[in-house]
This record gives sequence, structure tokens and C-alpha cells, in this order.
Amino acid sequence: MCGIVGYIGKNQAAPILLEGLSKLEYRGYDSAGIAVYNNNELEVAKSKGKLAVLSEKIDGGKKLGGNMGIGHTRWATHGEPSDVNAHPHLSQSGRFAVVHNGIIENYISLKKKLESKGFEFISETDTEVIAHLFEYYYKGDIMDTMIKVINRVEGSYALGVLCVDYPDQFIAVRKASPMIVGLGDEENFIASDVTAILKHTRDIYYLEDNEIVVLKKDSVKVYNTDKEEVKKEKFTVDWDVSAAEKGGYEHFMMKEIEEQPKAIRDTISPRIKDGKIVLDDISLTEEDIKNINKIYIVACGSAYHVGVVGKYVIEKMCRIPVEVQVASEFRYCDPIVGKDDLVIVISQSGETADTKAALEEAKARGARVLSIVNVVGSAIAKASDDVIYTWAGPEIAVATTKAYSTQLTVIYLIAAYMADKLGKISKEEYADFIKEIESLPDKVAEILKSKEDVQYLASKFYNCHSIFFIGRNLDYAVSLEGSLKLKEISYIHSEAYAAGELKHGTISLIEDGTLVVALATGKNLFDKTVSNVKEVKARGAVVMGVTTEEHEHMDDVADYTVKIPATHEMLLPSLTVIPLQLFGYYVASLKGCDIDKPRNLAKSVTVE
Ligand code: G6P
Repeated sequence: MCGIVGYIGKNQAAPILLEGLSKLEYRGYDSAGIAVYNNNELEVAKSKGKLAVLSEKIDGGKKLGGNMGIGHTRWATHGEPSDVNAHPHLSQSGRFAVVHNGIIENYISLKKKLESKGFEFISETDTEVIAHLFEYYYKGDIMDTMIKVINRVEGSYALGVLCVDYPDQFIAVRKASPMIVGLGDEENFIASDVTAILKHTRDIYYLEDNEIVVLKKDSVKVYNTDKEEVKKEKFTVDWDVSAAEKGGYEHFMMKEIEEQPKAIRDTISPRIKDGKIVLDDISLTEEDIKNINKIYIVACGSAYHVGVVGKYVIEKMCRIPVEVQVASEFRYCDPIVGKDDLVIVISQSGETADTKAALEEAKARGARVLSIVNVVGSAIAKASDDVIYTWAGPEIAVATTKAYSTQLTVIYLIAAYMADKLGKISKEEYADFIKEIESLPDKVAEILKSKEDVQYLASKFYNCHSIFFIGRNLDYAVSLEGSLKLKEISYIHSEAYAAGELKHGTISLIEDGTLVVALATGKNLFDKTVSNVKEVKARGAVVMGVTTEEHEHMDDVADYTVKIPATHEMLLPSLTVIPLQLFGYYVASLKGCDIDKPRNLAKSVTVE
């Protein structure tokens, strides 16, 4: 996610901003920029690519004078990585410079309004709207303007704003995006997290939503939106720098597991308006949807496992046949795919070589390609007819968690959107489905609250040599992901099996003490899976059942039970996967594995 640093004080700002941004590189970014107040004007430097490129451009900051400035590393959301889309953004007259982290959900309507008032936009970002809004509302008082702007924008934001009329102060605010204030000696800071400023100070203020902070060289004042000063408590940070880079977590994987409620919310909330799914990002019309003959879902690794969920969900809700295939197979199997088919390509990185080649294969045969991608402007996004971005933010751990979860939610949105257009879902069912999608972030957060229960189970089984995951239908789809999570980071052999298929061979591997993780969350197939649990128990297996709060019966048959909240049947994978991610994580942690960088694996596989 984007990183922000702001500085005012006794020293030259630009080198301090560059250095602070370098500490935020771990968050992932694709371009960077800074703006300083110097000689009665705002000077801006920005570049696509690594911070080193920006640094070279301005000679390590020396070329930009001035003692006040804001800096930004951008992780592209609206508009591809480029110099012009990089922050800071200037308002039309250059009076304001803005850095922003977050997503402005109503930027399209705001942009239209500003354009009708004569504002010209030069970037594709949502942030430029904010810069122009400042200018539009400005009547000489920056605090009043800030209040008007934040009343107008919807979504999440951390903002740092410079104004040419205020040579000795700058202003910042946050809502649902991180920002802290650093309190120094004759110098003060804002930053996305403490890492960026730890070298200068350990004294900080945490800002609440919509608290506005005015920073001067010798003072920091925080106000609410009624312009009343808020007394803040000062915290002293005692983290070391490397811990701070992971937000206090030992591993990026756990940080990313914990980020899932927010990542899911960020992915769904801009796409649900007034109880309707709005997929502004795609050009697929109702007519196009009605004419789809068949859907292929093509991907690799965990993204492929999302596809397996997708097959069950889309077929059930839309009654369109769906075939799901790993990209390395699809590309060479002479696929029967053509102009009446929709190919959904799923990729976190948007760079996976096999997935990209499969996409090209599908396009060459005339199919329409809709991709679900996390990295804006990536090769797969660019090559697709339509893209729906997941707003998971950068994922650093090799084993995906939040990207998988956000991809699932996009699949749900597509399924319900198409089912509605096809007339396959009643008004009531549609409303209920949307309500349940919206409740997923809270339910995921609820599961995460009892992660110590899963840690306890991991402590019982981390010495196993082989672990089986079983389930039926959607539970089977999630078993695939649970098994992969475990094996890729803990190096324990593991297999996922359709519960009903186990008896056709694989059950011979079950012996005394073999752990079987049995997923039985859905109502219809619960009893069937319980029968399979009994089969493996009769052969000596130890069973960890994963089920919903509605199914008490699991406690009677399994040795251990993990409960997740109930939700709409189709959405259960989003909840079921959470304890499985935690289980893999804790087992790997107990075994002392290199969790974020497992052996032999790469985050982005750009070779065949
Ligand atoms: C690698 C990663 C997996 C990921 C797969 C597909 O194998 O380790 O976590 O699921 O690539 O990557 P993509 O970026 O296309 O989703």
C-alpha cells in the first residue's frame, strides 16, 4: 500500500523525506514523489519505478530546497504506474499539493462535477480529485477547506496537504487508512507508520478517523471536524526498526492474514451501492452475459483454487457451465474456447507467465477475457478485455492469504451480478446474498479473534508427517487451499481429497494417528462428510473438524472442532479458509520454518 511521509522543521526536508520513504519500501510501491515548499512555491519531483530513480533525479534531495514537504510511495490503484499518476498531485493553479493513501469511492462523480466547473485533470488517479477539491472550496482558510473536502469524499484516506499560502505549516488527516504523527525537537512529522520516522523520534500521536492535524516546526495541534482542539496522548514507541516494518508482526504472512477484513471490505464496498452490485470497471453488458456459452477459469496456485470455488458458485447461481483449469495445462491442451465463451483469469501479481500465456491463447481463439488482478497496470491486466482489481494492497509473503480472500469476494460479486442479469436470482435472495457479502469482513475478524485456539491445535500436530484435508463441493475447494497453505510453508506432506473419493484408494494411507482435517460447513452435505469422518476414524485417524456454529453434531464425531460463523452457503469458503491459513502458519512457526520465504518458491513466477 502507499506510503506517506511529511516533514516540517529545522532541516532541509527533501533528504529526510527520501530517507523516510525508503523505510516504507517494504509496503510495496511502483512510483514515488515528493513536494516541498521552497521560495514561495511548491516544487514537485516524481518518478515511476524505484525510489532510487527519484533520488537520482533530485540528487538525494539536495536539488530541492525548503524545510517543509510531503512524500509518497504509490501502489497503483486508479491508473497505471507512471510519472504523471505518481503523487504528490497539484491543484489546478499549483496552490495545493496532496499525497493520499486509500481509495476515494465517489471520485467519478466528484471528477464530473469539477470538470463541469472547468477543472482539467491530467492524471487517472482518484487523488487528483482531492487536490482540485481543495482549490474549489478554498476561501483563504485551510482548516475550513479541509473540513469541506473530507465531508465531500467517500472512502478511505490518509492525506498530507501543502498550501502555498501557509509557508510555516502543513495539514493532514486520516480515515480508515493509517497515519501517525511524529513529535520531534524543532521538527515534526507525519507518516504511514513509525518505521519512516524512527530515526528522528519515537514520540508519536495516533490519529483517530477524521482528526485533522496542523503541523508547524514547533507545534502540533489536532482538531476535530468542529474545529475544536483534541488533546492527544503521546505514545513512545519502543520497537526496533525491523519489527516496525512488519507493523509489529513477526512475519508478513500473519500481518497479511490480519489485514483480510480490511482487504475484503476495500474490495467489496466500492462495488456495492444502494443494495446493488455495481461493476463499473467492466464493459460486459447484460446482452453479453446472456450470450455466454461457457466460462473458463484459468489460473495458477492459490488463484486456481479460487477458480475451483468459482466453478461451484457460478454454476450454482448462474447455471452457466464453468470449467476450471490450471494455466500451464490450459495453454497446451488445444482448448475448445471461442468467441461465445468468457475466460476469467485470476492472478495476484498479474505477471505469472503461464497465466499470461493462457490468456493470450484464449484471446487468440476469440474468447473474451475478464481478469481478476491485484497489481494495477500489470501485464495480465493490460492484456485483458476487462479487469476487476482486488484491493488487497501489496502482498509480501510468498504464501498468499489476503489476495486469495479478495479474489474470492470478486468471484461472489461476479456470480451474483451475472445471476441478477440472467434473472436466476430472486430479489430477496439477491438482497440476502449482498447483505451476507457485506458481513464477511466482520465475520473474518471474529474468527481471527480466537486464533490462539488454532495455535493450540497446531502445537498438537506440528510433528505430523502427513496431513489430509477432506471436504465436499465448496469444502473440497477450500481443502485444496488449506492443504497447499500447510505444505508450502511447513514442508509437511499434505493432500486434499474430495471426501467421497477418499475410499477409492487414498484411505489406505490412513493409519493410527494420521491427522485428517475434515471440512463440513455446508448444510446439505454435512451428514455425508460426517460419514467420511467416521470412516477415517475407524481406521485410526485423528480428526480436526471445521464447521459452522450451526452444526453441533461435529463435536460428537471429531476429536477437535473449529467453529466458524454461519453465512450464506456460497460464501462459506471465505470463512472456512481462515482457520486453515492460521493452522499452516502456526505449524510452520512451531517448526521454525522461513514462513515468508519458503524454500524453492517465488512470489511471482514469471518463467514457464
Ligand atoms: C506462485 C505463488 C502462489 C500464487 C501463484 C500464482 O506460485 O507462490 O502463492 O498463488 O504463484 O500467482 P499469481 O500472482 O498469478 O496469483
